[in-house]
Amino acid sequence: MENGILMERNEISRLCEHIFFVPGENRGRFPACHGLLLKGNETVLVDAGVGEARIAEIDRADRIDVLIVTHSHPDHIRHWYLLEDRVIMMPRETPDSVADLDRLGERFMGSADAGKEWARYVRTFGVRGVRKPDRRYSDGEVLELGGCRLEAIRAPGHLTDHYCFFDRTTRTLLTTDIDLTSFGPWYGNPEADIETFRDDVKRVMSMPYERVCSSHRMPITGDASEYFEKFLESFSRQSRAVLDLCDPPASLEDIVAASPIYGNGLADKFLQKAFETTMVKKNIEILLRDGSLEERHGRYVRT
Ligand SMILES: [Fe+2]
Repeated sequence: MENGILMERNEISRLCEHIFFVPGENRGRFPACHGLLLKGNETVLVDAGVGEARIAEIDRADRIDVLIVTHSHPDHIRHWYLLEDRVIMMPRETPDSVADLDRLGERFMGSADAGKEWARYVRTFGVRGVRKPDRRYSDGEVLELGGCRLEAIRAPGHLTDHYCFFDRTTRTLLTTDIDLTSFGPWYGNPEADIETFRDDVKRVMSMPYERVCSSHRMPITGDASEYFEKFLESFSRQSRAVLDLCDPPASLEDIVAASPIYGNGLADKFLQKAFETTMVKKNIEILLRDGSLEERHGRYVRT
């Protein structure tokens, strides 16, 4: 067991009064995510990516009243329809395109054709467009639900409608896809922004938390500074990996082909290329701005 990390990997475990950690299938890795279960006057599930069997198991033991969706990525909305007759809460910023996978794909991929390909991919693991939510939450709002006082913290660097939560009662921080994994930050959609993402990390890590949960790693009790610092360093690691590929000069296509972000680790090569291109471009923009790179005849050169 890792230092400072709680519990066996597959158990639903009580983290503190009212809050339970629900490990997602596939160890919480995409296309799954970990969730939280809040048990008070209502039973609340945070995110619908823990797995079909697990949602059914929870619902049998404690009927789920409310589903809070933290953002519109497929691993977080995935099995929402198992709870379609309950109260569904989504961010104020989530566009209506979340109801239609082709349109959601267009939002995430930047073109209608690529969006259709994305939709085809996510349908293979059961994702469906999400119905109109019953309630929306917004930045700074405190949701008194499931025995908690959950402050909604918008963290749009990862995605425009991405939210973290801080329970003011137990000082439990959910950082969602500021996920503190070794992969580092993911900003592969057109609307994501590296500098905003960095600021989001700095903001949440300064909160007076007693434990930190993320959507893709096991909870951390106590001081999580080293995990946040490592995650922040990953922005620099990704940027350096791009810069290192520009000596000798390289085109965008050359850099993407070398896969500095994914290390060729994604099975679907169409999606890997699309996400890698977006993430590389975002790094190049910053490197050009800060003078570390120059563009010469369609190639990028380290200065
Ligand atoms: Fe996400």
